[in-house]
Amino acid sequence: MWQRIFALSCVILYAIATLPDIGAPGYSCDANVMKKSKKVPTNVNSVRPADIKLIMALGDSLTAANGAGAEDPVAVVLQYRGLAFQAGGDKTLDEHVTIPNILKKYNPNLFGYSNGIGSPNVWEISRLNVAVPGANAKDLPAQARQLVALLQQHTEVVNMKEDWKLLNIFIGGNDICGYCRKPVDDSPYNCAQDIKQAVQIIFDNVPRVIVSLTGMLQLEILRETDTGHYFCQRLHHDECGCESNKNFTDAEIRQACYDYNAYEKQIETDGVFERDDFTFVVQPFFRDTLTPPMENGKPTQKFFAPDCFHFSQWGHALVSTYLWNNILQPVGLKNTIANLSEPATLSCPDATCPFIRTTKNSADCSKYLTPVD
Ligand SMILES: *[C@@H]1O[C@H](CO)[C@@H](O)[C@H](O)[C@H]1NC(C)=O
Ligand SMILES: *[C@@H]1O[C@H](CO)[C@@H](O)[C@H](O)[C@H]1NC(C)=O
Repeated sequence: MWQRIFALSCVILYAIATLPDIGAPGYSCDANVMKKSKKVPTNVNSVRPADIKLIMALGDSLTAANGAGAEDPVAVVLQYRGLAFQAGGDKTLDEHVTIPNILKKYNPNLFGYSNGIGSPNVWEISRLNVAVPGANAKDLPAQARQLVALLQQHTEVVNMKEDWKLLNIFIGGNDICGYCRKPVDDSPYNCAQDIKQAVQIIFDNVPRVIVSLTGMLQLEILRETDTGHYFCQRLHHDECGCESNKNFTDAEIRQACYDYNAYEKQIETDGVFERDDFTFVVQPFFRDTLTPPMENGKPTQKFFAPDCFHFSQWGHALVSTYLWNNILQPVGLKNTIANLSEPATLSCPDATCPFIRTTKNSADCSKYLTPVD
């Protein structure tokens, strides 16, 4: 059955160009905040966007970008990695917003982002995005080990000691989809311990890393977008059991997602992954996002792939705008709500602290200021 679906979906690949998308044509900032540092920074709190050499990602189907370019539910089996908000490098920023496409404006030699369609074992497509569809938090440590192995193998493109690396992580959808059945095993607290274990593997093996964790999204919005869509409800029965299980109330699903966010934030607050050349930051724009994407006063499916669950390329681009702005906002002052109906205007680094924001440079940036190139 899946082979047949795969063959079918190949036929409709060429259709991606006709789907709606979001670009940021003309995005540019003051020349000074776009330059790299005069000397490669040695401190993690002095890293400018242009200093990032490698982009890497861990996650599930939302980082593998399943269905992002799909026009039909069968094509949701395909991993459109090149369109992924955290890790895709397809098209240009003018046509499709992703974190790598923005970073390429700062450093055209950025490496590690995915291009095209394929699974994580195809290096030419996935590069350093090792996200696996269906992954739960407990699968992240294996992904972290895979990432370390890739960095060690590919010395032709990776300078392990010198290169500054941005690691984007997004996980939790599958955990909450199963949480109502296994509230202990899949508890938000346990999931956060798995995330911690994965980051520990990176911390122990890879120098010069900024870990940017996209906080868990509010799955409750799926219920609102599903209302009246029998087809979506049927699909979600299989894809996300707890979303369609009415015994798991809206209030419970919301609380589970808040708890997930809170335990993720705790990892940052505990400061266990702080080192001169390493940090861990949570980007919370999904946390309080409880309003589904709307169009003409009604929930819209434009944000979603044809399975009404994964993000469309439009959804990936929209999410990227909020994630980028979060990356540039100081810890403690980050936006916790995204308007899923409308992209944000992409920010520029703050001239008074033109770095990827960390806990320490958010508290006092003056200690970390360094000259530009
Ligand atoms: C919901 O709860 C009822 C009563 O406990 C139970 O019979 C039913 O199987 C549950 N439904 C699901 C989908 O778990
Ligand atoms: C979100 O965007 C939509 C579409 O542009 C707009 O109508 C709505 O007012 C926005 N919501 C908020 C809370 O800003």
